[in-house]
Amino acid sequence: MLSGKNILLGITGGIAAYKTTFLVRLLIKAGAQVKIVLTESASSFVSPLTLATLSKNPVLTNFAKEDDHSIDWNNHVELGLWADLIIIAPATANTLSKMANGNCDNLLLASYLSAKCPVYYAPAMDLDMYKHPSTKHSFERLESFGNIMIPATAGELASGLHGEGRMAEPEDIVTFISIHLASGLPLSGKKVLITAGPTYEAIDPVRFIGNHSSGKMGYELAKTAAGLGAEVVLVSGPSNQSLSNSRINLIKVVSANEMYDAAHQYFNEVDVAIAAAAVADYRPKTVANQKIKKSEDDLSIELIKNKDILFSLGELKINQFLVGFALETENELENAQKKLKKKNLDAIVLNSLNDDGAGFGKPTNKITFIDKNLTIKAFELKTKAEVAADIWGEIVNRIHA
Ligand code: CTP
Repeated sequence: MLSGKNILLGITGGIAAYKTTFLVRLLIKAGAQVKIVLTESASSFVSPLTLATLSKNPVLTNFAKEDDHSIDWNNHVELGLWADLIIIAPATANTLSKMANGNCDNLLLASYLSAKCPVYYAPAMDLDMYKHPSTKHSFERLESFGNIMIPATAGELASGLHGEGRMAEPEDIVTFISIHLASGLPLSGKKVLITAGPTYEAIDPVRFIGNHSSGKMGYELAKTAAGLGAEVVLVSGPSNQSLSNSRINLIKVVSANEMYDAAHQYFNEVDVAIAAAAVADYRPKTVANQKIKKSEDDLSIELIKNKDILFSLGELKINQFLVGFALETENELENAQKKLKKKNLDAIVLNSLNDDGAGFGKPTNKITFIDKNLTIKAFELKTKAEVAADIWGEIVNRIHA
């Protein structure tokens, strides 16, 4: 959810500021770009050098920025507009009061006032300050501006007292923001199952029958679904695709049988399932225990049919929106429509090997989306990420119709 986001982190002067080093690491790990503004007093609690190193950006405190030869200024308007979201953590009673009242006596407040993006703040203060009507008044005003509070937790405070006012832990701040961002998205609250990649069917301990599927289409579908707010289970055959998204549960399998089991394990609990895998239709009837030695001039391997995963999901389907792929070389539309009916699908994505640039191992794809009412929509040749967005656009329209 935070991947690719520009995050402006404002750190104000409280003891919890030391924890923001962990927060910065988590944000960077989640794929965000982070710029940091410290208030004067915050730099007594956490080292700007540590934060600059972790965020890979200079840490800003003042309007003026001085180097050896010149004086420049830190443009709060640019900073505010650069940000996709602002996090103020820890947020002291003093800064919250200034935010609530439009005060603007430091770079952080000026950036806050210039920004148009969502603002999250994680208060940290002593328990009586947290309870004070004046602080509560700040919370209410900030809520009326649309700013989002990440509530403080109860525990031991710097004063030695015990009560509410501890800043939320960095992991909890990241989870809170991720869930909050996802809640307004078209697939929020939805669960999605995707199969991807090839399957490998063992011949002996070192050889297998496989195909050239890279898995890229399925991985892009998973990433797009996660970006649209879904919780995704991605069942993938052997693939070199990389993934780092906490909303995607990657289940690695090798054979068609393993993919069948994993897909069936999750199918009941999902709202949408997409079979993008290039499943081997056949597997060797027996798998040799030892490496098959070279002897005769001819070697025959007897193959038996694998179970059709998608067909079986079509039989089990209750309310799930079920999507298949069809890779065809002749009578494409007709064959795809036959598959859609036979496998009891809600839609099928046709890609033809006759299209240049479409298909296995390629970075691009050209698809036609066909739904069960036989509405047909053909798309141009696009990158697989763009194709994934088109496919999800079609699915989202239909599940929300
Ligand atoms: N599929 C599956 N399990 C199989 C075979 C296919 O889940 N054992 C799924 C694929 O993931 C794809 C769809 O079925 O979504 C169609 O796959 P495709 O290979 O085009 O069709 P087949 O049904 O295998 O028919 P054919 O190979 O004869 O065209």
